[in-house]
Amino acid sequence: LEQQYRPTLVKIHLGHIQRNFELFKSIPSAQYFMCPMVKANAYGHDDIHVSEALKEVGCTTFGVGLVEEGIRLRTSGLTHDSVLVFGFSGREAVEEMSRHLLTPVVSDWEQLESIKAFSKGSSAIHLKFNSGMNRLGFSLSDLQKLETFFKDNRAIKVVGCGTHLMTSEDLNSDAGESAQQMSLFAEIVKNPLFRGCALHAFNTSGAVHLQQHPHLAQKHPYGLRIGLGIYGYASVHSDFSRKLYPAMSFLSRIVTVQKVKKNGRVSYGGTWAAKKDSIIGVVPAGYADGIPTQLSNCGTVLVGQFKAPIVGRVCMDYTLIDVTEIPDALHSEVEFFGVNHSAETVAEHAKTITYDILTRISERVPRVFVRD
Ligand SMILES: Cc1ncc(COP(=O)(O)O)c(C=O)c1O
Repeated sequence: LEQQYRPTLVKIHLGHIQRNFELFKSIPSAQYFMCPMVKANAYGHDDIHVSEALKEVGCTTFGVGLVEEGIRLRTSGLTHDSVLVFGFSGREAVEEMSRHLLTPVVSDWEQLESIKAFSKGSSAIHLKFNSGMNRLGFSLSDLQKLETFFKDNRAIKVVGCGTHLMTSEDLNSDAGESAQQMSLFAEIVKNPLFRGCALHAFNTSGAVHLQQHPHLAQKHPYGLRIGLGIYGYASVHSDFSRKLYPAMSFLSRIVTVQKVKKNGRVSYGGTWAAKKDSIIGVVPAGYADGIPTQLSNCGTVLVGQFKAPIVGRVCMDYTLIDVTEIPDALHSEVEFFGVNHSAETVAEHAKTITYDILTRISERVPRVFVRD
């Protein structure tokens, strides 16, 4: 860790990540395929530390979004494991993936043709099918042409096949979008091309449903690609999801306090006025660190065991909180979100999603890793 001159940091609980992984691993569907998603710097938690921690508890497959993320994992020492790259394009991307033995998840003809043209030696790939999300993936109507392609290009081997649900939260409903996507995917994977392949379809919310309703797991025998859940959150709530441990705490301290008289206003634009004589705590973390400006005048933080409202506009380097009712607040620890103050609640306050809260923490905030 480089020298830091302000008391703002993100604490990453690697033990929580390991326990969350083990919880998902215990869902029977994990036997088909289990790939924690460590893209986007492991949702802001540091991909290298997270992958090492996951490896320690038996993880052998990792999912990234970019070729450069895959290369970063390989050069950090993750040499023997499967690293799936979910997004790539162009000749150089294919050459680099081939050089670093990364596994492409191929979702269109252009990608497939570049693998044929630029991959060195034989390549193992996964195919991705669009079953309704309409973002990435081949269609059912591509199947015949794909069969011919792989007969003609034996050096390219399909070892996996997946799809992605647009609303995995409704997987437990027969009338939901997921049910339709699942029946289309079932039709696709019947094709002999996928015999012996790893089939995968479920993110965190899907997996929470599978755990809760074992008949769904039997009906849809596909594996898991878990992102959010590994980091301790799930948008579907159940006894299982309540066992997840948040892995990231965004912490700082009150570095100074201001006494503000009744009607005095604070921060840019003076959007908050004191209803009575007040004490304002100044916390050295702002929107340049990843605190959403949408929390201005509506979010809360934890100061010790007390909740304190965010007052006035969040600034680039500072956030102001009302600590009038909190004894001896100066120098107290502040939790923006984390183990004691859910990032999910903070996301609701900021009218966004938990993913956004976790991934937006900027690089200038040091990550400190603990084993618990
Ligand atoms: C293709 C794919 N699979 C799995 C995931 C993981 O989703 P979640 O974080 O909801 O578990 C993502 C995340 O965006 C994804 O793009």
